[in-house]
Amino acid sequence: MVQFNLPKNSRITDGKVWPKPAGATSLREYKIYRWNPDDGRNPRLDTYYVDTEDCGPMVLDALLWIKNKVDPTLTLRRSCREGICGSCAMNIDGTNTLACTKGMDEIKGTVKVYPLPHMPVVKDLIPDLTQFYAQHRSIEPWLKTTTPTPQKEWKQSIEDRDKLDGLYECILCACCSTSCPSYWWNGDRYLGPAILLQAYRWLIDSRDEATGDRLDALEDPFKLYRCHTILNCSKACPKGLNPAKAIAEIKKMMVERRI
Ligand code: SF4
Ligand code: SF4
Ligand code: FES
Repeated sequence: MVQFNLPKNSRITDGKVWPKPAGATSLREYKIYRWNPDDGRNPRLDTYYVDTEDCGPMVLDALLWIKNKVDPTLTLRRSCREGICGSCAMNIDGTNTLACTKGMDEIKGTVKVYPLPHMPVVKDLIPDLTQFYAQHRSIEPWLKTTTPTPQKEWKQSIEDRDKLDGLYECILCACCSTSCPSYWWNGDRYLGPAILLQAYRWLIDSRDEATGDRLDALEDPFKLYRCHTILNCSKACPKGLNPAKAIAEIKKMMVERRI
């Protein structure tokens, strides 16, 4: 069962302290957000101890070590384990990032792990991204053309292809959108940095022939203009992309077409 709202007055309580692994000489303390929609309890922070000599160097390695050796009920998403699928996005040590590319040695002291902020939680470290994906669908993220499809391929100059650099690499991990205060408060109507970066990726694609329609669809007080250039998004992106710049470029296109 997916529960979208926590019980009233819910707050994070101290959870279970799991035993230290016997015989381990190098331990790392983890405090991990736990919430099970089916047990009726408030969320809690469980404490675990990871034997770093028996485990890989990344935070994802530690989470899987805990799941495999200590507590199989710990629930998280992951797939590629190399920063490509975006599944393992979570809040680690106060920053939204990918667990598979975040080294334990980059963090001082206890490693604190929470789900991406301000999203409904499905369970433990898994945020509900239904709205995020629906917003992605809403920008129609595919090539739209009116001229007949060429027999072989849609051609693009090297210069025009270069314009997609810094955009096509987005893995839709949602680290940026869930670090954006405007998205926290208006996420139902503001598209947020990730989706707007994707929108710009299609607006700037020389092969696409629906630029006017795409801009019309974004001309809305909430969808685009809730960005206040706070720049949390660009700081958060684990792929080094700059969604705030993409948003500024869309706003520029809006102005230019009015001139
Ligand atoms: S620059 Fe815009 S999208 Fe990025 S964090 Fe700030 S308000 Fe959000
Ligand atoms: S722009 Fe960066 S942080 Fe945002 S969804 Fe894409 S890869 Fe993730
Ligand atoms: S597991 Fe795919 S990005 Fe981390």
